[in-house]
Amino acid sequence: MMNQDTILAGQALTLKRYPITSNCNLQAWDAADHHLLKTLQDQQLDADGALLLNDAFGALACGIQAERFYSHTDSKVAQLGCIKNLSLNGRDPELNWLAIDEPWPESLELVLMKLPRNLNQLDSQLQKLSQTLRAGARLLIGGKAKLINRALVERCARQFGQATPSLAWKNTRVIECVFDGQPRATTPLRQWPVPEYDLTLSNMPNVFAGNSLDIGARAILPYLPEDCDGPIVDLGCGNGVLGLRAGQLNPNADIHFVDESAAAVQSAELNWQENLKRNGAQFHWSDCLSEIAPLQAQWILCNPPFHQGDAITDHIAWQMLKDSHRHLCKGGQLLLVGNRHLGYHVKLKRVFGNSELVASDNKFVVLVATKN
Ligand SMILES: C[S@@+](CC[C@H](N)C(=O)[O-])C[C@H]1O[C@@H](n2cnc3c(N)ncnc32)[C@H](O)[C@@H]1O
Repeated sequence: MMNQDTILAGQALTLKRYPITSNCNLQAWDAADHHLLKTLQDQQLDADGALLLNDAFGALACGIQAERFYSHTDSKVAQLGCIKNLSLNGRDPELNWLAIDEPWPESLELVLMKLPRNLNQLDSQLQKLSQTLRAGARLLIGGKAKLINRALVERCARQFGQATPSLAWKNTRVIECVFDGQPRATTPLRQWPVPEYDLTLSNMPNVFAGNSLDIGARAILPYLPEDCDGPIVDLGCGNGVLGLRAGQLNPNADIHFVDESAAAVQSAELNWQENLKRNGAQFHWSDCLSEIAPLQAQWILCNPPFHQGDAITDHIAWQMLKDSHRHLCKGGQLLLVGNRHLGYHVKLKRVFGNSELVASDNKFVVLVATKN
């Protein structure tokens, strides 16, 4: 079991990953969190009223010395983790969560950002900051030193203003940026066609499968159910391609789109409006099905992730299978696609007591399990 106690910039904290699993050997903070907090401390910056962007499990929220601050994250799992860790550390600050479609406060003078993995997401956050902040506002971006190269620093300077990388510390760097007061235009969303299914998809930054159909999605799409009355759930919907196709094939069914990424849920909603143009869809920002009211689905469609951030893990797939079993009606079915080597048939047998092979190629298997 991983040690969950640490000292970040002089503060003793207990930080757990979310969800807390008994076999979790992954840490809930990293050296970039530590570097950001240390920079605040070394430079004696006033963090009151600051905005935290992309705080992974609340290490920044727990470590920041401020009475009041804002936080925005795309990830529901990160948000739930942060809330758990704040209470674990007896912190009850006035934390204002900013949702994906909310404006950020103009009064911000300091922003702490964990470098997102996706550079389109970085651009989009820098652009939104540039449309919000006043000239002179400061932005500290913390990340792994190997990712903070000259091109990245120039990108920050282009999208925000003066950008100066720190020396490396524990294999991380902090880029210190000062806003030049020039608002940058938002990059238009990419749109791309899927002609074989008569769909046009748009992906917000940070959403899986940026500009082409994922090969796993391609493998499962020919086997979606037809002419059922639903409800049908697209679990881990990304841009919503499985639910959209299910909506075409099942015009009387309600389709539920679920993802832990707020940008994914927003993309699915946009794509539904653009492609299906009918009522009957619901959109949920949720960690698996944990925040969905007692839904008894007839079908759940799933192309599960096998990583959480940088960490390869099968705990999300396990959770998706268990939640699916709970949220299917009797006789309801889970249709799932996965890499052959991930052994999903074994997991399905454990959770459902059955698993049938629907299709396979040299890379993927499509499986179905029935709730008895
Ligand atoms: C392999 S992608 C599949 C996307 C889309 N369904 C497709 O087939 O192209 C997996 C999706 O699961 C989402 N995801 C990851 N962890 C999740 C969780 N805990 N709860 C809900 N969705 C999650 C990811 O954001 C991602 O959109």
